Amino acid sequence: MEKNTIDLLVHNIGLLVTMQGKQEARTGKEMSNVGAIEKGAVAVRDGKIVAVGREEEVRAQIAGLAIEEELDAKGKLVTPGLIDPHTHLVHGGSREHELDLKLKGVSYLDILAQGGGILSTVRATRQATEEELFTKAKGSLDIMLLHGTTTVEAKSGYGLTLEDEIKQLRVAKKLNESHPVDLVSTFMGAHAVPLEYKERPSGYLDVVIQEMLPEVKRQGLAEFCDVFCEHGVFTVEQSRQILIAAKELGFGIKIHADEIEPMGGAQLAGELGCISAEHLLAASDEGFEAMQRAGTVAVCLPATSFNLRLKKHARARTMIEMGIPVALSTDYNPGSSPTESIQLVMTLGCLNLGMTPEEVITAVTINAAHAIGKANTIGSLEAGKQADLVIFNASNLAYLPYHFGINHVNTVIKNGNIVVF
Ligand code: NIG
Ligand code: FE
Repeated sequence: MEKNTIDLLVHNIGLLVTMQGKQEARTGKEMSNVGAIEKGAVAVRDGKIVAVGREEEVRAQIAGLAIEEELDAKGKLVTPGLIDPHTHLVHGGSREHELDLKLKGVSYLDILAQGGGILSTVRATRQATEEELFTKAKGSLDIMLLHGTTTVEAKSGYGLTLEDEIKQLRVAKKLNESHPVDLVSTFMGAHAVPLEYKERPSGYLDVVIQEMLPEVKRQGLAEFCDVFCEHGVFTVEQSRQILIAAKELGFGIKIHADEIEPMGGAQLAGELGCISAEHLLAASDEGFEAMQRAGTVAVCLPATSFNLRLKKHARARTMIEMGIPVALSTDYNPGSSPTESIQLVMTLGCLNLGMTPEEVITAVTINAAHAIGKANTIGSLEAGKQADLVIFNASNLAYLPYHFGINHVNTVIKNGNIVVF
């Protein structure tokens, strides 16, 4: 029987950014439509939104029901919980020693080719116990939540053996079960060719396709499969083989495409119908056209280009004008993007990619939800969706990217519970 109480009423919201409107992935002018309501309120029961809108309308809708708890938003800005659709959350160690190499001008791919970079994190991850990985990743997830992130995609890819990949994915599963933040898991055994297969990369490809993918599927440890398609890592042809095998097993597919060199990764994403393609700094117009035709979401990672000191940025404006939905993400990882802050990414989305504050909030809510196949439950504030919302110490959207480098979060509500205040 339906409860006749409201668990939580968030009221006195100065500006309520609902993202109501089109629920498909948004592009073009639709990315500016954020469904903003002044003097708003949100009513929650059993972790879900039951009413959202102008406060007087919400109060009229729930009239007669007992309200267990009222939270005064004190005229501040409220948005849906932020979604980080691309992270390498679970890993061992850190790579601050690479900073010196980077300052000396050694490139990211050169560090990797010398056995450092991703491969140095592979060594640390293999050495770490499951408990150690859990503790470290939980620390990062806590930071993300403090910054307003309520759902995170997490990739494996620092184990590169069946056992170590599964170790990483199990940590993500345990975190999903025990932490307020929701996790969506992606298998990324094709993140690098491990040193033991350096002379025989095709042998590693066989392991990924024949052993890892079926076992990860059998254990139900990942929804998606991702590949690092890049010079010196996996070719377009190898990426195609892995992603086709993954698709046949029922995984959703993603690709790190055209990050540094133009490889044709974006074309492949469109050809195979990837749910998302990531990075895309060097993607061509033909690649964009293929993505647009397939409805692939572009996940831009401006903190990565910032941190790698690349002179280039993903052409977000072109993509938005061409009809590609754009999402933004931290790419949190110990090498190319050691930051958990989606708010920093929002600033870089504005300043480096030229996106407006409205486009940016769309990119970290409804479009980010689409990039991980979760837009039916999160990404906007609508009756029936999860009650994931953030109260910011701000009165308007532009203030978030404008006042940068600090945490604007006042309160985070996850599944109807106040988890940060
Ligand atoms: O998305 N590009 C490949 N993978 C990560 C970096 C991982 C690392 O450097 O450890 C990325 O940037
Ligand atoms: Fe990445």
